[in-house]
Amino acid sequence: MTTGTFISFEGIDGSGKSTQASMLADHLQRIGYDPVLTREPGGSPGAEEIRALVLQGDPDRWSAETELLLFTAARRDHLERLIQPALAQGKIVICDRFADSTRMYQGLSRGDLRSTVDALHDLMIRREPDLTLLIDMDPTEGLARARSRQGIEERFEDFGTDLQIQMRAGFLDLAQEFSDRFRVIDGARAIDQVARDVTATVIKHLQT
Ligand code: ADP
Ligand code: TYD
Repeated sequence: MTTGTFISFEGIDGSGKSTQASMLADHLQRIGYDPVLTREPGGSPGAEEIRALVLQGDPDRWSAETELLLFTAARRDHLERLIQPALAQGKIVICDRFADSTRMYQGLSRGDLRSTVDALHDLMIRREPDLTLLIDMDPTEGLARARSRQGIEERFEDFGTDLQIQMRAGFLDLAQEFSDRFRVIDGARAIDQVARDVTATVIKHLQT
């Protein structure tokens, strides 16, 4: 039994998820909540080790199937060690990406693996967020923002604009498929404007 609230941010690379997740955590803290801010892949020590394996190196380092197993292993560890215990304490967990990213990146990007993704999710994860904020924006601009960070975690960014275009459309489809928990936020605005929209959406959810 969980009693807290599980919120995820989704969207293409560079759409502003990390920025918005952290601003939301700050805002909730200011108004008296005790949120837990986390991310995937990662969020627990073991999952952070897997993160380095999946996000660094050549784009063809792993097949889509191997990647799916690695992301799912990381998620299971994150769920067991951080997310479920925090929810059981009644906290708000804010997660930068969750299983919807696997549905997109492993399920859609290289062949149709969606049914395998769903089967593994049912077997090993089973939990969905209570609220998912999709930060939607133009793929080319998103990629430009992501590349301007110039980090070493560029394996997915190296797949390029075509992947971003496919992912944006896929996320919007997912928002319809799971319309009960998805809210689409226009990410092509100034940071503060997006943040106001995010906050209003979350507060509304917390009050229902
Ligand atoms: P994501 O986590 O979705 O990849 P980030 O939050 O890391 O995105 O943002 C990517 C880059 O774009 C960062 O340099 C960030 O400062 C910048 N950024 C985020 N939101 C906006 C925005 N609304 N307008 C302009 N730049 C933004
Ligand atoms: P992230 O650090 O959120 O990247 P960004 O800030 O650029 O959006 O995630 C890194 C990459 O991992 C991202 O390109 C998407 C990919 N990813 C998957 O392929 N499957 C998954 O299940 C998750 C959580 C992420």
